[in-house]
Amino acid sequence: MKTLTIRRPDDWHVHLRDGAVLQAVLPHTSRDFGRAIIMPNLVPPVVTKADALAYRDRIMAALPRDHAFEPLMTLYVTETTDPDDLESAFRDGVVTAAKLYPAGATTNSQSGVRDFENAMPVFERMAAIGMPLCLHGEVTDPAIDIFDREAVFIDRVLDPLRRRLPELRIVMEHLTTRDGVDYVSGQSANLGATITTHHLIINRNAILAGGIRPHYYCLPVAKREEHRLALRKAATSGDPRFFLGTDSAPHLDPLKECACGCAGIFSATNTISCLAHVFEDEGALDRLEAFTSLNGPQFYGLPANEERITLRREDEPVVFPSKIDTADGPVTLFDPMFPIHWNVVRQAS
Ligand code: DOR
Ligand code: ZN
Repeated sequence: MKTLTIRRPDDWHVHLRDGAVLQAVLPHTSRDFGRAIIMPNLVPPVVTKADALAYRDRIMAALPRDHAFEPLMTLYVTETTDPDDLESAFRDGVVTAAKLYPAGATTNSQSGVRDFENAMPVFERMAAIGMPLCLHGEVTDPAIDIFDREAVFIDRVLDPLRRRLPELRIVMEHLTTRDGVDYVSGQSANLGATITTHHLIINRNAILAGGIRPHYYCLPVAKREEHRLALRKAATSGDPRFFLGTDSAPHLDPLKECACGCAGIFSATNTISCLAHVFEDEGALDRLEAFTSLNGPQFYGLPANEERITLRREDEPVVFPSKIDTADGPVTLFDPMFPIHWNVVRQAS
């Protein structure tokens, strides 16, 4: 197959940041994606309806004029989130979902939830109004090995929450394990899961074998090969519960290349090309559209994008920049460590 035309993709989990970084990275997302779920972990985080409105305005102000892109905003759940403000933001269409970070789990999660019991009134309200909850699914218990934190989260937090509030729509975000795939596969359709581009491509060796490579470090951290294979199977299966959330998470290079580097992989620029490669490898190019463009809208109760994008398989590898420049400094682009032949060529309707 030389060309492939699919509905315009959406990114169901992306970090756009703010200020100079927002300005620089947004066009990389809005070039290929119609909509994206925008993570609220700014400093300070996006916790109220007013915060979300103001952040949405800043995103729209940074959007290139010729890009049609809709940011789907989220609220950052804290132990003091006001359920009325959250409901009003959802009902007025200001936000699409809320995001739960266990406190200390990842970048800018200090304001997240320490005791899940304290957030129950928020979850109950969300269940009542049909508002999806996006979960960073890792426990923060220091006694739990970092490679086990997702699997333990499923047992300790996700499953009890599902039993208590079965009607709550939950997205288990950036799934990284076979355990996660198995759990989601066995649940009803109101549990979905996003999978990132990079977790379909790298395992933990990319970070640690032959030298420490900070640009492959993200959270949840990439696991063993058997988990990557389970993720590839889920993503390419066509199962509507699995959909793309790139978790493209830019950090300036000096903040990654240091003694205590930040978690996050920036992949917005070449994500669609990398995914086409993965799906081709798996003999599943015919299911790429389901993963990037159909399953996510279906879960969120939104129509799929009407526009199409066309991908073309080039004879020569497509050249992507190794870094992009921002006014605050460079951000390194995800390197899949294989030549990429698929290119997004044009938008047609
Ligand atoms: O790798 C990550 N980066 N994981 C997260 O959960 C947060 C994100 C970020 O904001 O940089
Ligand atoms: Zn994220």
